[in-house]
Order: sequence, then C-alpha cells, then structure tokens
Amino acid sequence: MSHILRVAIVGCGYWGMNYVRLFSEMPETEVVVACDRVTDRLHEIARRFPGVKTTTQADDIALMDDVDAVIVCTTATTHYQVARHLLEAGKHLLIEKPLTTSAADAEDLVRLAEARGVKLMVGHVFLFNPGVEKVKTYIEQGDVGQIYYLHARRTNLGPIRQDVNAIWDLATHDISIFNYLLNRTPQWVSAVGSRVLGSSREDVGFVALGYSPTIRGHIHVSWADPNKVREIVVVGSNMRIAFDDLSAQEKVRVYEKGIVSSIIEPASYGEYHLSIRDGSIISPYLKISEPLKNQARHFVQCVLDDRQPLSDGRNGLDVVRVLEAIDRSLNLNGAPVELEWGERVYANREEALARTAS
Ligand SMILES: NC(=O)c1ccc[n+]([C@@H]2O[C@H](COP(=O)([O-])OP(=O)(O)OC[C@H]3O[C@@H](n4cnc5c(N)ncnc54)[C@H](O)[C@@H]3O)[C@@H](O)[C@H]2O)c1
Repeated sequence: MSHILRVAIVGCGYWGMNYVRLFSEMPETEVVVACDRVTDRLHEIARRFPGVKTTTQADDIALMDDVDAVIVCTTATTHYQVARHLLEAGKHLLIEKPLTTSAADAEDLVRLAEARGVKLMVGHVFLFNPGVEKVKTYIEQGDVGQIYYLHARRTNLGPIRQDVNAIWDLATHDISIFNYLLNRTPQWVSAVGSRVLGSSREDVGFVALGYSPTIRGHIHVSWADPNKVREIVVVGSNMRIAFDDLSAQEKVRVYEKGIVSSIIEPASYGEYHLSIRDGSIISPYLKISEPLKNQARHFVQCVLDDRQPLSDGRNGLDVVRVLEAIDRSLNLNGAPVELEWGERVYANREEALARTAS
C-alpha cells in the first residue's frame, strides 16, 4: 500500500463531519468519497470539500478500488449492516462507538476482519485523550495504591438519540475508559434506569460494575440533567484522581491523600486501625492535543504499519458485551448479571501511543 491512505466516510451527520475535516487535513490521507443517505448532508460536503466525491449508497464504496479504508459514522443500529459489506470487500474500518448494538454482530465483524486480514478499530475516543492517558499513567506507576472504586458521571440535557438508550450512547465511553484504566473487564454488572422523558428507551441510568472482588465501578448517565458533567474519578488508598473533560484549565486533579485500614489485633474481631495519608492537591501538566485527531492518526498508522489498534474490534466487542449484560440487568430491575471472559491479548499500549503522540 502507498503511504497515502485513501479513505471514505459513511455517515456525515454531526460527528461524521469532524472526520471529513480531520482526514482532509492529514498529510497521510486523502478523502476520496463521502456517503450519507440524506442528500442535504452531501450538498454540505460538496460546498465545504469540493474535491470529495459523494454518494448516498454505502454499498457503492465496497466496489471502489481507490478506497483503502472507511470510517463508519452512521447511527449505532446501522453500524453492523454498513460495516459487514465493507469488510467483505476487504476495506479497513474505523467504526464509531458502540461497535454494534449486539454482541453476536460484533463477534461476526471481528471474525470477518480477522479472516480478511484487515484492521477493525472502534472509535473509543477517550483512549486517545491526554487526560485519560495521565490517569492511566498514575495507575500504572502504582501511585494510586490499591484501587477502591471508579466513578463516572456523564449528564446533560440530551442530545437524545432515536435508536439507542442513554446507556448505550453515553456509558459506552465510561465502560471503555474503565476497562482501559483497569486493564480488565467486569465480572458482573447491575443496572437500573428510568424513562423520565416518556420514550421507549432509558434516558437515565445507574450502572454498577464489579471488576474484581474489591474493585467497583459506578456510572451515572442522563439525558435529563441540566448540569452538564463529563467526569471520571478514581479513588485509591493513596490518591484520588478526577478527570473533568469539560475543564479548560484543569482537566486532571490529583488529591495526594487517602485512607487505609489495617486490623491491629487479628484476634479481636473488628478492631481496625485507620491511617489517613495527607498530601497536596495538584493539577499535573498535560500536553493538550485533540483526541479525535489522535484517534484518526492512530488508525492511519495501524493500517499503514500493520499494527494492532489500541481500541481494536475485540476491545469494541468487550464493551458491547458489557452493554448487553446491562440491558439484561435493566430488564431484571437491577439484578446482577455475570459475565464470562476468555483470554485476551490487548494491544501494546506504549508502542501504540508512542506512534500516535504528536
Ligand atoms: N465519540 C464520540 O464522542 C461521539 C460523539 C457523537 C457521536 N458519536 C457516534 O457517531 C455516530 C454518529 O453520530 P451522530 O451524532 O453524527 O449522528 P447523526 O444522526 O447526526 O448522523 C448520522 C448520519 O448517518 C447517516 N446514515 C444513517 N444510516 C446510514 C446509511 N445506512 N448509509 C449512509 N448514511 C447513513 C444519517 O443520514 C446521518 O446523517 C454514532 O455511532 C455515535 O454514537 C460519537
């Protein structure tokens, strides 16, 4: 393959336009064609990106020999159908989150990509966010100590989706972040939700995740909360780290404080000694870069250099399996649902991100 990756974008709505812009700006890529089933979207492309061909039919792209890779940025419930045909035609794919809306479909895409020898990457954009990367570094260095729990809040007034509920739309991000930070997948989930806006899908959700006998996760998402929050908190024995994606000045805040309990006299049941560790509150320096651009560059490098993407198809499948288990728990009004996992080989993080850093 030449060192210019020729790409197509399928789905040029709110989010897809970002990809058309980014891939048009990158020296390693050329946007050959943009596709949307709504012609108004294509008029907008023709106006802003005059060199880019347009089509309303995603299947046409499967037949185009001058397209190496496709970005699938359609609504979540259409990802599988659009992607399957393109993978069969041997195109490398970057699919927006969630990979699919069923684990069986995600498994099928992973199998197909492996069989065709093409890259399948999922747009878990927070894995390419310098703030999340900083939190990961603290955890990997052991600075946090024993991890007690992770907590995520992702609330706002909408934007409300018509095809998936708020958990599939928003908690997808948090599950991918938790899995990445902890380097594991949850053993069980328990979720309750509500439909306060009167639709047939949950617009509010509270999800608990058991990552180990001692590590818990909790995610709260809402489309009905006037306070916009995008926050992840990690609490450990030595440290609390808060990542606030909306903060311009201080995305990561570290509290070098913690509490540890130890039994002082094992013979006398229940006697604990609590030691409080006190320290500073700091905001570490972050090299700011655009996460979506980092993700786009990572995809291009993985295709051109034949590397395993950090958020590969199996990583996307893991997240979809968790979301499916959450659906089951919602239907059982919060009863815990267990998950079984086989062996997984994750992409080498240092190697992958060293190549993505700007
Ligand atoms: N990573 C993020 O932070 C983030 C943010 C927003 C959206 N997204 C994801 O991006 C995807 C798109 O979201 P959006 O907000 O742009 O939605 P949107 O509704 O604004 O755009 C989707 C577009 O896809 C087109 N489309 C649907 N089915 C199609 C098909 N079969 N062929 C061609 N075009 C088709 C629609 O006409 C529409 O223009 C979703 O998967 C969403 O989860 C991710």
